[in-house]
Amino acid sequence: MSDHLRAFFAIDLPEAVRTCASLAIETLRRAVPAGVRWTPAENQHLTLKFLGEIAEDRVEALVGRASAKLAGLAPVELALGGFGAFPSAREARVLWLGLARGGGALAKLARSLDSAARVVGVERERRPFSAHLTLGRLREPARVEIERLPAPESVAWTATEVVLYESRLAPDGARHVPLAHLALGAGRDRADEFAPES
Ligand code: 2AM
Repeated sequence: MSDHLRAFFAIDLPEAVRTCASLAIETLRRAVPAGVRWTPAENQHLTLKFLGEIAEDRVEALVGRASAKLAGLAPVELALGGFGAFPSAREARVLWLGLARGGGALAKLARSLDSAARVVGVERERRPFSAHLTLGRLREPARVEIERLPAPESVAWTATEVVLYESRLAPDGARHVPLAHLALGAGRDRADEFAPES
């Protein structure tokens, strides 16, 4: 399938947030059993919509549709929150950091991207969106006393764009390559510019 690529939309993290996520991983390492695949810093994003395999020649149409939708939405104020686990702390498979701020706004972005993704034939997400930053995946589900861990320092930032990433699978792990940067609120600025004075 050389004419297809594996892609997803995500919010990228500024350096200060990556540092915080790395410290959070260090906290988790001490508290969880061995057998966790930790997410490398360069692969840490807030995933908004996983697309799976899409046709390469449809990327332009996808970016066009998604950009138009995101242009009408504002930049998002975000702040890191506490630890969590999917599906539960009793049988954890995925360990993550949540958001103390901005989860609702990201859910709105995720809905817009979900709708834009229909242009490349990707099905709508049936599960409710839950904003999270994946820190690690357990090879075997285990009980993790995650609720006892102190939340890391809550770093705040403003996300001004969404990135369309290609995920290139390799034996030593996936490499995420940015394909397009889609601005948030670009259309709103223009609307403000041309808005009649009241
Ligand atoms: P996650 O870390 O929040 O689970 C790139 O692979 C990103 O897309 C990952 O960071 C992962 O987000 C998400 N992802 C990967 N495979 C997926 C799948 N089959 N379904 C949904 N999301 C997936």
